[in-house]
Order: sequence, then structure tokens, then C-alpha cells
Amino acid sequence: MTVGIYFATTTGKTEDIAERLHGLLGNANSPKDLADLNDLKEFENLEGIICGIPTWNTGADYDRSGTAWDEMLEEIGKMNLSGKKVAIFGLGDSSTYTENFCDAMEELHAFFKKAGATLVGYVNKDNYTFEESKSVVGDRFCGLPLDEDSESDLTDDRLRSWATDLKSQMPGL
Ligand SMILES: Cc1cc2nc3c(=O)[nH]c(=O)nc-3n(C[C@H](O)[C@H](O)[C@H](O)COP(=O)(O)O)c2cc1C
Repeated sequence: MTVGIYFATTTGKTEDIAERLHGLLGNANSPKDLADLNDLKEFENLEGIICGIPTWNTGADYDRSGTAWDEMLEEIGKMNLSGKKVAIFGLGDSSTYTENFCDAMEELHAFFKKAGATLVGYVNKDNYTFEESKSVVGDRFCGLPLDEDSESDLTDDRLRSWATDLKSQMPGL
């Protein structure tokens, strides 16, 4: 049993972050592009799943990512992933899209929850500057938001700190 990292991307930033995170975690499988995956059955053989998702469809209620994740959401919701730990990181732009910062994370979060997974890797929102985000659940982000467009200088620290959190929250790392 092990941990897999899955991402989808339009301009490559989410893939880059998936690779950097993989380097920090050491123990997870090499990142896979969701667009190359034929079916999601392999999720069932993992102990933990880490997902990277950018936000492109600004303000949308559904299909917020504009990537391969959007077509997979219904299928994820129908799976039985109880007992699995799932963590999400999101790519966005807190300056230009400050009212919809990393909105897509929450959509993924909702469907994994529907599948019975245990979501981990929540992040304090106080260290971010933004107006609104659908990905604030309770008073925390339901994953790790990253902003390579306006705050790339903060990414290293954010990633390192999240990797440390995940090592204590996700068996198999
Ligand atoms: C047309 C367009 C729409 C975007 N919409 C949002 C948005 O609603 N919220 C957000 O946080 N970022 C938004 N972004 C920023 C992207 O999410 C960000 O550039 C991200 O790093 C892209 O990741 P990718 O290279 O993996 O596709 C948008 C960018 C563009 C060009």
C-alpha cells in the first residue's frame, strides 16, 4: 500500500508543483497526469491519494478546473474510498482572481468526501491575501492553495510545511 500523486494542468504549473512535492515527500509514487489515466480503479489500491488541481473556470459552480478532473468528478463520487486518506493542493492566482481563489479544490473535496474518503491536509487561511474562495470549508482551506502567478516566492515554504503535515496525517508517507 502506498500513496499516489495525481495532477491535471493546462499550462504546466500544477505538474511542476506535483514534481516538487514528490521530491519533498520521498515516499510517494511518481506524479501521474490524470489526462493519461484510463480509469480510476488504481485509486482503490492506494492507501493515500494526493491531488493537484488548478482553477480556470472563474466563478463556475461546476467544472471549476477546466481540466481532466472535471470529467472524473462523477466517477470519483461513485467509488468506495472509505479508509483512504486524500489531500488536495490547488493552483490559482490570489491577485487577479481574488474572489475565486483556488475555487476548484472544494469541488474535488466534495466528490472525494462523497466517496467516503478521509480528507486531510487542511490549511490555515490567515497566511493568504484574497477576498473569497469556495475552498474555505469551516474556517480553513480544504487543501493547500498555491499561487505561482503572484506569490511564487512563498511556494517553497508553503510546500515544505504542507509536506511535513502530510507525513503525520497520511500513513504510507
Ligand atoms: C482565463 C484564466 C482564468 C483563471 N481563473 C482563475 C480563478 O478563477 N481562480 C484562481 O485562483 N486562479 C485562476 N486562474 C489562474 C490559474 O489557476 C493559475 O495560473 C494556475 O497556476 C494555472 O495552473 P496550470 O498551469 O496547472 O493550468 C486563471 C487563469 C486564467 C488564464
